[in-house]
Amino acid sequence: MPPITDTILRRVSVRTFEDRPLADEDRADLEAFIAGIETPFDVPVTFRLLDAEPHSLKSPVIVGAHSYVAAKVARVHGADLACGYAFECFCLHAIERGLGSVMLAASLSRKTFEQAMEVAPNEVMPVASPVGYPAAKRSLRESMMRKAIKSDERLPWEQIFFSGAYGTPLRPSDAGIFSQPLEMMRLAPSAANRQPWRVVVDGDMVHFYEERTLKESALGDIQKVDMGIALSHFDLVRQEAGITGGFVPSDPGLTTPSGVEYITSFNAAR
Ligand SMILES: Cc1cc2nc3c(=O)[nH]c(=O)nc-3n(C[C@H](O)[C@H](O)[C@H](O)COP(=O)(O)O)c2cc1C
Repeated sequence: MPPITDTILRRVSVRTFEDRPLADEDRADLEAFIAGIETPFDVPVTFRLLDAEPHSLKSPVIVGAHSYVAAKVARVHGADLACGYAFECFCLHAIERGLGSVMLAASLSRKTFEQAMEVAPNEVMPVASPVGYPAAKRSLRESMMRKAIKSDERLPWEQIFFSGAYGTPLRPSDAGIFSQPLEMMRLAPSAANRQPWRVVVDGDMVHFYEERTLKESALGDIQKVDMGIALSHFDLVRQEAGITGGFVPSDPGLTTPSGVEYITSFNAAR
């Protein structure tokens, strides 16, 4: 398997697919993978690989997909975080098999997907994604969307990563062992490319915050899914780099601007 950093660097949302079903071996591999996805957040996430046609699954932004993957989770604290983390593990794995995907929160016929997922009243299905073979050329609609929301851009370090206090910029050269995990986190995908993640590094502790810019909907806070995705990039890269430790709720009580919510912390064990 390629290093996770290579996979993250190659990752890009795919909305335009070759018009062919998944090969049996890819389908079997994905089924096995989704059955075993785990997160550090102690909230089980249930995935299903769904055939588009029998379930009438479609999205106005997707071309050519024969299959979708969706995830559901109980409506409990940490549900969106766990879902984002687990779903990104799936998307990164798919890349390693030459498959493309894109998480969809808004651009889908939600009722149809929820029926196919048999979502119970105490559960939520934050996102679903097509999965298939990326087409050689993007649809015009996809290219226009990417331009409109500046999908190829990311916020610079100084705006999102801080040292000791919220708002004091952290330079990559001062981030020590966390430099690579944070850089790979910076490249994570997010709803409308809003990149709500903010981080304060303080010694062995990395504190994660959400700067919310999208309104909460009936679906809840989709930017918590973004936070889960970002944490998965951080966590997978630090694991590969041999940095031991784990996520612990440990709010340092720092002064933050309004609209900023403390999420969790990573404590690097020495
Ligand atoms: C939680 C989440 C929800 C998203 N919802 C949609 C969506 O409804 N429709 C869509 O076309 N793209 C959606 N996206 C894809 C983002 O627009 C995309 O990740 C972002 O523009 C960055 O582009 P990239 O993934 O190619 O780096 C979503 C992404 C995430 C993480």
